[in-house]
Amino acid sequence: MKNNKVRIGIVGVVGRGQIFVDPILMTDYADITAICDINVEGMKKYEEKIGKGVKVFTNYEEMIDSGLIDAVFVATPMPLHVPMSIYALDRNIHVISEVTAAVTVEECRELYKAVKRSKAQYMMAENVNFFKDVMIIDGLVKAGYLGKIHYAEGHYIHYTGDVIDPNSWRFKTIAGCNYCTHNLGPMLQWFGNERIAKICCIGSGMRRQAPTGEFARSEMANVLMCKTESGRLMQVRKDGGTPTPYMIPFEICGTIGKVMVRKSSPVEENYVYLNTEEYDHTPYAEEWKSLQYYEREFLPKSWVEATHTVPNMGHLRADYVMTIEIVKALYEGRKLPIDIDMALNMTVPGILSIESVENGCKWIDVPKFDVD
Ligand SMILES: NC(=O)c1ccc[n+]([C@@H]2O[C@H](COP(=O)([O-])OP(=O)(O)OC[C@H]3O[C@@H](n4cnc5c(N)ncnc54)[C@H](O)[C@@H]3O)[C@@H](O)[C@H]2O)c1
Repeated sequence: MKNNKVRIGIVGVVGRGQIFVDPILMTDYADITAICDINVEGMKKYEEKIGKGVKVFTNYEEMIDSGLIDAVFVATPMPLHVPMSIYALDRNIHVISEVTAAVTVEECRELYKAVKRSKAQYMMAENVNFFKDVMIIDGLVKAGYLGKIHYAEGHYIHYTGDVIDPNSWRFKTIAGCNYCTHNLGPMLQWFGNERIAKICCIGSGMRRQAPTGEFARSEMANVLMCKTESGRLMQVRKDGGTPTPYMIPFEICGTIGKVMVRKSSPVEENYVYLNTEEYDHTPYAEEWKSLQYYEREFLPKSWVEATHTVPNMGHLRADYVMTIEIVKALYEGRKLPIDIDMALNMTVPGILSIESVENGCKWIDVPKFDVD
């Protein structure tokens, strides 16, 4: 196995990119052969940790053109994802991009074309799809336990009101409900990635003000509605303004039953209700079961292995599980888990949400990218 290891480069390694380092160092599928960041001082720690003569770059294009890497993890600010992804794809280097895939519809179109003309693969690294409870629900849905799915909702509650820096990319880029992939990702997985056909979005007002007097583009909270081609409904609420602990709760509803995921801490209970004959309807069960009840049947092997080998870190081990899945797929020459179609199905509704908010919650049709 040690021959033909995938050679990995990580850009943005001092920020979010650092989460990929430990999992890759733990596998036999890949080596980190190059890292890149504009933070030279910050990179020293990762250069030392990775060792083995890893090459350090401050210029992204030089890293891509170095001949040292087969795949790049793009973990820079959102506005850099598309230019960096296209540069690598055009040189047939595989791209694993952080969320979101793009920040404008035009960028989505350009990215889609670049993926189609490249010999390399593209993936958007939506880590919430690899959360343990999300994967158990995926198993339940695919086995038909909930019947036909018609509705889901997901909330991204991440208080960022205390860090208002008007010079940061987040202050200028996060708007409407464009940071929605953490919720749309899992829900689309449960919906079989059915295309979202139209969206609308409304917010609770811009109240987050920097010391300079400027308001953050992002409202306190936004609610995004997404109708799929067959008319099913998904709802996302992003709330960065209310001071509360970090939470990503979900609900998914089908013709037979529903699941509620509260997800505010590792010990939080998640619940399942099924309206079937064989389901335990005794009073003590109070008609709700713990999602844990289905773990043995539906928890993927990758998760069972992770639970035994790594500490509870990196979004409750999801970052680790996702990274291993990625490098293993590349090593074995398999398709990466989240392709361009799914990445854009998760990303474009959020981009369009900005226009919808500005136009009083107007419904907007989502463009197709595979037609021109
Ligand atoms: N999936 C998740 O759970 C999750 C969590 C946090 C952030 N993110 C995503 O990760 C990305 C980065 O977020 P962040 O908070 O780390 O941002 P950040 O502003 O800290 O930037 C990340 C890193 O990129 C470096 N960088 C900036 N411009 C560069 C350039 N031109 N060339 C090379 N390096 C450059 C910065 O020095 C920094 O170390 C964002 O797209 C964000 O949406 C995802």
